Amino acid sequence: MHELTQPEGREDPYPRFDALRRTAPVVLAEDGALVLTRYAECHAVLHDHSLGRPDNEEFFTALGLGNWKDLPALWTLNSSMLLANPPRHTRLRRLVSRSFTARRVQALKESVAALVDDLVEGLADGGDFVEKLAFPLPVAVIGELLGVPEADRPGFQPLVRDWTRILDVFDLDALALANEAATSLRAYLGDLVDERRRAPQDDLLSALVTEPGGDGEVLDREEAVTMAALLFSAGFETTTHLLGNGLVALLEHPDQAALVRDDPAVVATAAEELVRYDSSVQITNRVALADTEVAGVPVAAGDRLVCYLGAANRDPDKFTDPDRLDVTRNEGGPLSFGGGIHYCLGAPLARLEVQLALPRLLARHPHLRLDGTPQRREGLTLRGYLSLPVAV
Ligand code: HEM
Repeated sequence: MHELTQPEGREDPYPRFDALRRTAPVVLAEDGALVLTRYAECHAVLHDHSLGRPDNEEFFTALGLGNWKDLPALWTLNSSMLLANPPRHTRLRRLVSRSFTARRVQALKESVAALVDDLVEGLADGGDFVEKLAFPLPVAVIGELLGVPEADRPGFQPLVRDWTRILDVFDLDALALANEAATSLRAYLGDLVDERRRAPQDDLLSALVTEPGGDGEVLDREEAVTMAALLFSAGFETTTHLLGNGLVALLEHPDQAALVRDDPAVVATAAEELVRYDSSVQITNRVALADTEVAGVPVAAGDRLVCYLGAANRDPDKFTDPDRLDVTRNEGGPLSFGGGIHYCLGAPLARLEVQLALPRLLARHPHLRLDGTPQRREGLTLRGYLSLPVAV
């Protein structure tokens, strides 16, 4: 497992995932976590109600950060539903999912297409695909969804990156930067929530704070700020790196790229296949909320479990010839968006972005090719490229 953290392991983790899945599909790592690599077992873990998120108080106190509630970066992440267990999670998820619907995502289609076309045009002389399209697109789309005025959207890019960098690099400098960024984000979003409460618009943020459901409830001001910040953080680099990984996969398989470019009928399966083939999210964690058993192994309350989603997505017991990229494949859900109660809320939006961006890019620049050395991102949880120079 150690190899997975080395440069060549990061470059191509799939042979090591394969070896683990075959020889040690459920294995205790050196740090005491139970690591799972098969589809069936990862799927079961994600749907198991006796597993969940760790208790923040214990977790941060153990790291010497007993003051986490005074640190905006940690407080925002940890008060979000992403890291909550029921019943707090159930309530927050209910209050957002009734407004963040498939219909709202479909209604964004034209504006996402326009954003894509603009960014695709920006690559008319080639350049860095990540800088020119994969970074700006998701932030612009979430800005559009929430109702952040267009002129303010570019400012979110550095703030969200500084804030979420602590998920990869956890040192005091990174934490200080993350706190500064989270403070600015919260201040901006707080003002926007106040404005939308006074004068609601046709956007998700207005719906979250002004449209009570059958239960008569809406998110309060701080909850709405945290939810908006979560959407930016969860939907930004995940989508950026899906676009980058997806583009590289297609350029390595010109026959598949041609299908995506020329055949509108494959767009939906293609997006799902790219999500499976080289997911931007490779790992997710759980802790045991009570003594239990996972994949036949006894687990005590507080024990950690790690699902290698990228390994599960290449499990031959689930996917036929899993190392082959086949944009017409239709074999059901990869685990890239997780599963169970935390199943990715933004999956329809991420799919829409891929379905619009990659076919339009390949159609506008049919001779697009890599031109220079891509720079891979560090860390394994989030997999992708920091730069992908292309020529057209
Ligand atoms: C390719 C793009 C994306 C990938 C691979 C991805 C992946 C994931 C995964 C694996 C989880 C579950 C984490 C866990 O259970 O431990 C998750 C949750 C979540 N995602 Fe995504 N995501 C993507 C895009 C988005 C977008 C565009 C948004 C919103 C605009 C979004 C919002 C969320 C939220 C709010 C959660 C937490 C759900 C909850 O806790 O109930 N994601 N995502």
